[in-house]
Amino acid sequence: MIIVFVGPPGVGKGTQSKRLVSHFHLVHISTGEMLRRAIGEGTPVGVEARDYIDHGRLVPDDLIVELVGKRFETFPSAQGCLMDGFPRTITQARSLDGLLEKLGRRVDVVIELVADREEIRRRLLDRARIEGRTDDSPETITARLEIYDRQTAPLIDFYRKCGSLRQVNGMGTPDEVFNRILESIRS
Ligand code: AP5
Ligand code: MG
Repeated sequence: MIIVFVGPPGVGKGTQSKRLVSHFHLVHISTGEMLRRAIGEGTPVGVEARDYIDHGRLVPDDLIVELVGKRFETFPSAQGCLMDGFPRTITQARSLDGLLEKLGRRVDVVIELVADREEIRRRLLDRARIEGRTDDSPETITARLEIYDRQTAPLIDFYRKCGSLRQVNGMGTPDEVFNRILESIRS
C-alpha cells in the first residue's frame, strides 16, 4: 500500500505517520526529516535547503525530486510506503507517479488531514518550546501556512480527480485521529 499524507504544517502528519508506519509496517518517507538530516550533516543538499526552510518556503522541486529519487533506488519494490510531506506541488506529484510507475505501483490512498488554523498555530508554538525547530517561529509559521494554501493545496483537487483522496478530521486527541485514519483507509 502506498499512502500519501497531505495537510498544512502542524496538522499532525508526522505524529500520525509514526503510528501508521508501525501499524502497517510501511517505509516512512518524510522529505522534511531528510532535509533536516542533510542540514545537520552539512551536505550540499542541506546547505542549499537551509535558507528555504528557515524562511518557510518550499525547497525547489528539482532538489526534492532528486532526493526522493535517490531514496527510491533502495526501495524494495513490493514494500508499502508512507509519504509524509511529499509531494507538495503538482510537479512533485507527477514525479512520484513516474517513480512508482517504474516499480509497477501507484498511489493507493491520499489522506488529507484537516484542522483549525488556531489549533495548528497552538500545536506548532508548543512544539517550538519542546523541540526548538528553527521554522516554528510565529512569522515562519504564517509563511508556511500561506505557502501551503498557495502551492500545496492545489494537490487536493489533483488527487480528488484521481479518486484516491480521503479527508480526515485532524482535531481531537492523537488516538482519535489515528482511529479515523484507520477507518478511512478501510472504507
Ligand atoms: P516538514 O518537516 O514536512 O514540515 P511541515 O509540513 O511544515 O509540517 P510539520 O512537520 O511542521 O507538521 P506535521 O503535520 O508533521 O505535524 P506534527 O505531527 O509534527 O517540512 C519542513 C520544511 O521543509 C518545509 O517548510 C519546506 O521548506 C521543506 N520541505 C519539506 N518537504 C518538502 C517538499 N516535498 N518540497 C519542498 N520543500 C519541502 O505535529 C505538530 C505538533 O503538534 C507536534 O508537537 C505534535 O506533538 C502535536 N500534535 C500532533 N497531533 C496532535 C493532536 N491530535 N493533538 C494535540 N497535539 C498534536
Ligand atoms: Mg512533520
